[in-house]
Amino acid sequence: MSRIIVTRRIHADALEKLRALGELILWETDTPIDPNTLASWLQDADACLSMLTDRIGAQEFASAPRLKVVSNMAVGYDNIDLDAATRQGVVITNTPDVLTEATAELTWALMLALMRQLIPAREALLAGQWRHWKPDGFLGTELYGKTLGIVGWGRIGQAVARRAPAFGMRVVALNRQTTRTTESPGLPLEEFLAVADAVSIHVPLTPETRGLVNEQWFSLMKPGAFVINTARGPIIDEAALLAALNQGRIGGAALDVFHSEPADGSHPLASHPKVLATPHIGSATHETRRAMALRAVANIAAVLQGATPPDWVNR
Ligand code: DGY
Repeated sequence: MSRIIVTRRIHADALEKLRALGELILWETDTPIDPNTLASWLQDADACLSMLTDRIGAQEFASAPRLKVVSNMAVGYDNIDLDAATRQGVVITNTPDVLTEATAELTWALMLALMRQLIPAREALLAGQWRHWKPDGFLGTELYGKTLGIVGWGRIGQAVARRAPAFGMRVVALNRQTTRTTESPGLPLEEFLAVADAVSIHVPLTPETRGLVNEQWFSLMKPGAFVINTARGPIIDEAALLAALNQGRIGGAALDVFHSEPADGSHPLASHPKVLATPHIGSATHETRRAMALRAVANIAAVLQGATPPDWVNR
């Protein structure tokens, strides 16, 4: 009988399907599994349904001789050492597609809230500072007629772009991220940053994209432009972003992801007056989290049943 680890409480529908596949070893709490426990459980497991908070590296793979599949319940899989998995013959899968629309929705929610000053306006109201209507009160930046710059013309980048006409925004994409399609409105970096009023990040975290959005980017960006990151924290050089905000070079940032998560009010960016920070909630809808869990289970089922998993990333 297959032994299947599940590293967090997941949707009951997904768990039920998983039970039919083998013996479940469940980390049934709401907090990330302790790394030592995960390493020891992996030693005699056949499959693992993991979260983006679980680091699974060369050491864990080397001491897991039975392990056939790690099914990450996320589209990103930068928490897993892919080369080590491949060396050990372990299949790694992710959960693309099912979270595309939810993440695109959050991107727009952040962009609208950031540019229209929603959070400061709410805070002012609650603090009793809304004394009268003023011609220059709570002024934001209008999205209509502006240019949205998409970094990463993949599924999520394109889903964000599809919503732009409804807000009257023109879309440009960064061309070096767009090799997979000929339809993207791609521009070279300098031109892209010079025209974008809001730059939204939709690339995966890889060695190439780590620190991609750096001091040079902020110096080339349109003065007062906005940055939205719903991808991965380390894609932005946080010190460079902080400097750009403090120097008033950019208008603000909406960050759903951070270098080190979780972040709290002591983080200089999370608490910055020009930053709207949220706790990595891009895919956090009832519908999407259920679909992600089911997709992760489908990948495990395929591997354990000797079929090709739909979302095999280290093939
Ligand atoms: C992912 O799937 O990679 C998101 O960051 C969380 O849903």
